Amino acid sequence: MSDAKRSKPYPPISYSDYLKTSPLLELQKTRSAEFGEEAHEEMLFIIVHQTYELWFRQILHEINSILAMFARDLVREEDMGTVVGRLSRIVEIQRLLVDQVSVLETMTPLDFLDFRNMLYPASGFQSTQWRLIENRLGLKASTRLKYNAQPYHASVSPKEAEVLLKSEKDPSLFDSVDAWLARTPFLQIDGYDFGTEYREAVHAMLSEDKQTVLRFAKSDEDRERGLKQIGDTERVFESLFDADRYKELQDSGTFRLQHKAVQAALLILLYRDQPAFNLPFQLLTRLQDIDELMTTWRYRHALMAHRMLGSKIGTGGSSGHSYLKAATDTHRVFGDFFNLATFLIPRSSLPKLPEALTRRLGFHP
Ligand code: HEM
Repeated sequence: MSDAKRSKPYPPISYSDYLKTSPLLELQKTRSAEFGEEAHEEMLFIIVHQTYELWFRQILHEINSILAMFARDLVREEDMGTVVGRLSRIVEIQRLLVDQVSVLETMTPLDFLDFRNMLYPASGFQSTQWRLIENRLGLKASTRLKYNAQPYHASVSPKEAEVLLKSEKDPSLFDSVDAWLARTPFLQIDGYDFGTEYREAVHAMLSEDKQTVLRFAKSDEDRERGLKQIGDTERVFESLFDADRYKELQDSGTFRLQHKAVQAALLILLYRDQPAFNLPFQLLTRLQDIDELMTTWRYRHALMAHRMLGSKIGTGGSSGHSYLKAATDTHRVFGDFFNLATFLIPRSSLPKLPEALTRRLGFHP
């Protein structure tokens, strides 16, 4: 709402009243001071964690607003710039979150031991906002690693668990983008069939790859391995255009997107220079950035846990560093867009789009 549209008169306000600095600065109470001599490093530990929670809040604020825009039957074209802008903001925040790990690492493992025992059984594992971010992005409960043979929500209060379970059922960013991509009208239009055109181009590329392997393989073993890899790529690629075979890829976890959605994503990645695909391309790129930075943060945090704890178990009772490292690989959300890179071909070999289609995708009269 613009300032001119506000009818209620508002009084002047000071910096500290507006930002509630007094109550805010009351919130850093060290447990070590409460129960004995204060451990100097505990203040840093609390402030770093609280800062994370504040940024998590901002990330959720952005994701929720984006989900609301995708909740319409038809996503409005004019909202796409805002969606991309907000996703970019999330990416910038994530970069900060990764960098912030180094600030906490100025605390040494020995310093940490001055107050660590006082934290049991509290753990970042119980961060409801972190779980909400994961669920809103689209991490599926069924893909989550088992944690002490319990579901992840067993370690939070019943009220928080209820919020988390509800969020599992709400449409996630993954679901929303999946549905939006599946509605792309340009895969088959006015006699043009993206699948037919593109398959020919990819087969030509793969047979060139085969020639390269045959010419340059250093041994029989090398040649066989190279040809097998190309054969596997060919089979997966064919499945992208065959509904039944694509189902197998979904069942095996190679792809999660709907069949039409995966094709639409490929079309957008390939023909991103067409004006109508430019914002969708940026959107897909931001989702990859978010996935990559979630993974980077997980890995950085796992290393920090290793550095602080060695092979001790976590305060939340997990195997510590090894649980966290395993989650780095398993808890990915937008891997489909990364996997699609296998099927990109050089621009010079890309089939030209028909004139009528480029007109529809561009700003031509
Ligand atoms: C001394 C620094 C830290 C250590 C040693 C540490 C250690 C751990 C360990 C061992 C776990 C696994 C659960 C458990 O058994 O407790 C965990 C989970 C977690 N921690 Fe930390 N942590 C540290 C700092 C942070 C910070 C600053 C944050 C920021 C919010 C954070 C957020 C999380 C989250 C979100 C999880 C759940 C991750 C998942 O399940 O994928 N941790 N941490």
